[in-house]
Amino acid sequence: MQILLKLSNPAEIETECLAVVALDHGEKDKNVARVAGDDKAVADAAAGLIASGEVTGKIFETVMLHAPRGVKAKRLLIIGGGKAKNFSLYELRKAAGTAVRFLKPKGIRKLAFLAPSGSPGLDGAGSALKAVVEGALVGDFDPDTYKSDRKDQSMHELTVIAGGGNQPELDRSLQEGRIIGESQNFTRELVNEPGNRMTPTTLAARARRMCEEINSPHLKCEILDADAIKQLKMGAFWSVAQGSDEPPALIVMRYSPPGAPVKPVLGLVGKGITFDKGGISIKPADGMEKMKYDMAGGAAMIGAMRAIALLQPKINVIGIVCATENMPSGKAQKPGDVQIAMSGKSIEIINTDAEGRLVLADGLFYARQLGCTHLIDAATLTGACVVALGNVNAGAFANNDDMYERFSKALQRSGEKMWRLPLDGEYHELIRSGIADIVNSGGRWGGAVTAAMFLKEFVDETPWIHLDIAGVAWMEENKSWIAKGPSGVPVRSLVEFVRSFETKYEDGSTK
Ligand code: BES
Ligand code: MN
Ligand code: ZN
Repeated sequence: MQILLKLSNPAEIETECLAVVALDHGEKDKNVARVAGDDKAVADAAAGLIASGEVTGKIFETVMLHAPRGVKAKRLLIIGGGKAKNFSLYELRKAAGTAVRFLKPKGIRKLAFLAPSGSPGLDGAGSALKAVVEGALVGDFDPDTYKSDRKDQSMHELTVIAGGGNQPELDRSLQEGRIIGESQNFTRELVNEPGNRMTPTTLAARARRMCEEINSPHLKCEILDADAIKQLKMGAFWSVAQGSDEPPALIVMRYSPPGAPVKPVLGLVGKGITFDKGGISIKPADGMEKMKYDMAGGAAMIGAMRAIALLQPKINVIGIVCATENMPSGKAQKPGDVQIAMSGKSIEIINTDAEGRLVLADGLFYARQLGCTHLIDAATLTGACVVALGNVNAGAFANNDDMYERFSKALQRSGEKMWRLPLDGEYHELIRSGIADIVNSGGRWGGAVTAAMFLKEFVDETPWIHLDIAGVAWMEENKSWIAKGPSGVPVRSLVEFVRSFETKYEDGSTK
């Protein structure tokens, strides 16, 4: 998608469709819709539809008008942005995605989008522009890769009309939005691939290719194979990998820009199970096909590293992905087996389907060995987290309040929803073992928490955040702004978090 910037006069743009947001300024149930962004010609063109009551401003409502009067665009698309007082980057991003998804099946390939300004929740013209670009790119992605009659339905050109601000700053925001949106889609491509086409080896090859294509002397990719994993004494990672005919891969991506301070070193560690059949504690057949997305945490780290290397913040970041399948076989580990993790901790295997925490245990410990001072992991770790939070919020855990506070500001900027869950010491009882230091499954109750408690054993005092994305990495249904399938969460939050250590945002804060 070609993305262009314009600073004024939406009515003058000759395009197939001009999309604008209508906000509801009414109280309670009464609608008083108004087009966002102070443009008289556009407001006049929409006036008739608003007067008729067809446009109410209701969230993600879409009304299209052909041959609008006083506007050069062939069509005017009015997208509801919801209540004016609540309108923020979160709704704006999705409104842009909604515009793209509404127009694509109609064969419309050129779109202009009027980025509104003025609402306090928009955080300035640059942020609004960036959100529109991110949302449009996310909306443009479709997962129908292997349909033999697949048509290219992608949007060819997007012109964003910014609501104020200066050109260099806006150009930068546009580029940032593009990098982040494209990196999120890159992650979605990886997650979308089926298990037969996305083995640990292919995932590693895709990570390596990404690092080469970025063509930055500051981004390096190293792939460690089964022998190296064994040599490093990664007994927890290997215990999962040993049962599969497909060899595992430990993907290490290092971004070290010149001029970065020695500390912090951020470690991004992802679960990369390219297919989770459960191992000997085999999963039931129903819905098992979805377990190809069990590498979504790892894919998010690869996408985040792509964005980071392109955005070039002056901060050292290491991305680590533990990639393997989890299969039953004669070589597979069994319930009751005891494994020694790289850290030296012994683990009694209760359930071989609790494999994500095993590979992450060694991934997190290795990140610390490489010098990471702060860790974030992302993993489709537990069904229990989906039971707790559904498909709306990811579960977030942290052993450090300052780090979490910084992360929650990144969530504000990314528009990804997460909910913090506890890590009280009392939960540790649930992972005690009679024969070893800990068990790998704490049983049914508090399953998302006991999984996080298990990981905590391997990070020690290092500030750490764990994201359980089992419920949010895959969209169960089509939404107006995003296709059913891989969501690319939490790429945007990871990128915003990393940037928070450097960027001066428009409000002057560095957090
Ligand atoms: N990959 C699954 C978790 C999962 C479930 C992801 C649903 C996405 C959707 C994970 O490896 C797993 O199997 N977890 C078990 C842990 C249990 C055996 C302690 C679970 O949640 O049932
Ligand atoms: Mn599992
Ligand atoms: Zn799994």
